[in-house]
Amino acid sequence: MTQSAKRRYLARPTRSVQGALSVPGDKSISHRALMLGGLADGDTEISGFLASEDCLATLTALRALGVGIERPAETRVQVHGAGRRGLRAAAGALDMGNAGTAMRLFMGLLAGQQFDSTLIGDASLMRRPMERVAQPLRTMGASIHTQQGRPPVQIQAVTELAGIDYRMPVASAQVKSALLLAALSARGRSSISEPAPTRDHTERMLRGFGVEVEREGARIGIDGGQRLHGCAVEVPGDFSSAAFFLVAGCLGAAAGLTLRGIGINPTRTGLLQMLQLMGADIEVEPRGGASAEPIADIHVRARALKGIRVPEELVPLAIDEFPVFFIAAAAAEGETLVTGAGELRVKESDRLAVMASGLRALGVECELLADGLRLQGAGPGGALRGGRIDSHGDHRIAMAFAVASLIAREPIEIDDVANVATSFPGFSDLARRAGLALSEEG
Ligand code: S3P
Repeated sequence: MTQSAKRRYLARPTRSVQGALSVPGDKSISHRALMLGGLADGDTEISGFLASEDCLATLTALRALGVGIERPAETRVQVHGAGRRGLRAAAGALDMGNAGTAMRLFMGLLAGQQFDSTLIGDASLMRRPMERVAQPLRTMGASIHTQQGRPPVQIQAVTELAGIDYRMPVASAQVKSALLLAALSARGRSSISEPAPTRDHTERMLRGFGVEVEREGARIGIDGGQRLHGCAVEVPGDFSSAAFFLVAGCLGAAAGLTLRGIGINPTRTGLLQMLQLMGADIEVEPRGGASAEPIADIHVRARALKGIRVPEELVPLAIDEFPVFFIAAAAAEGETLVTGAGELRVKESDRLAVMASGLRALGVECELLADGLRLQGAGPGGALRGGRIDSHGDHRIAMAFAVASLIAREPIEIDDVANVATSFPGFSDLARRAGLALSEEG
């Protein structure tokens, strides 16, 4: 067992959370700000940057590719853009750690370069599917090798890519973003269609860097050869991190809980709609401002929830929130059914199987489906038992079961939690400030 696998949480039962909190910056937006800043002409100033392991992997990789980056403060980054043709070969393999977003977006960014690159990652990332990006990139002329579809990903120098006309078979913002990055250095126009709306941070941010991106229904059009101009990027609080406190608030904020400065891009907030369908008491107070991404304060108050059938069109809009959504469902009255969520099986862990076994360990009746989960909630007055959960090194599983301590009658031990630092540094401190009885050991 590695040192990090020994880190664990002990979450003792608590009944209440409260207060006003901010969460660290958005992970998706922080990755993109670094990458677009690196490709731009001129400087990019990032504020609210998420200094998590995943985003620092992107930062380190860009430096290895010759981009000058300074970090005058923990959450402030200055990127001295190398220009679209200014990157140079790294001295060795680029290590993406646990970060699927970094690996897939770098595949697009590096596919059209005139030097070779190799991308590797940790044990979880080395198991994840990469052909969904490699295949369309090859049709653009890229030379990419995977190991039976998985990393290491080897990218060979090419002289030029050609634009692509592509209908994505899976709803994936990572695939879409990788293709948009490759399209920037391709000859001619690219057209990419998505089967369902996914997070659109790349499109929004490209426009902020002065790139013309056209959107017509499900289709995105972009001309190759456009230059990016460095700019200021203000990163909002990560909705996916706020989600743990949003659900905690639904379960235990009798006096209310406020989350400040959270990104509420509608392609990210499916969880809000799902909780509202369950009867949650949530109020979104938009903040003004000229940022490319909408920001709000979110107020939540505890209220009894009812089980729901989750509309499948909400799944891609809440794709990272299912671990903690299942905890809300475990507290609700009656059955909750999620289908159309097969993508959860190829995240940092198989989130359907890992959540089902964790929930069962706490006494929740649940049925694992090929593309979802059916579970029976405890309902008002009901409670989960305590138990021991293996997070399988998945940050969002670890944090979700910490929230479950609001509806448990005995302690929950959660193993293998070091990877919480990939997305949410400071989670356990913030959780304690909100009222959870969470301690970290190992
Ligand atoms: C992300 C897209 C999603 C999400 C991931 C971040 C992004 O992945 O799960 O955490 O930043 O583009 P998919 O594109 O694989 O759905």
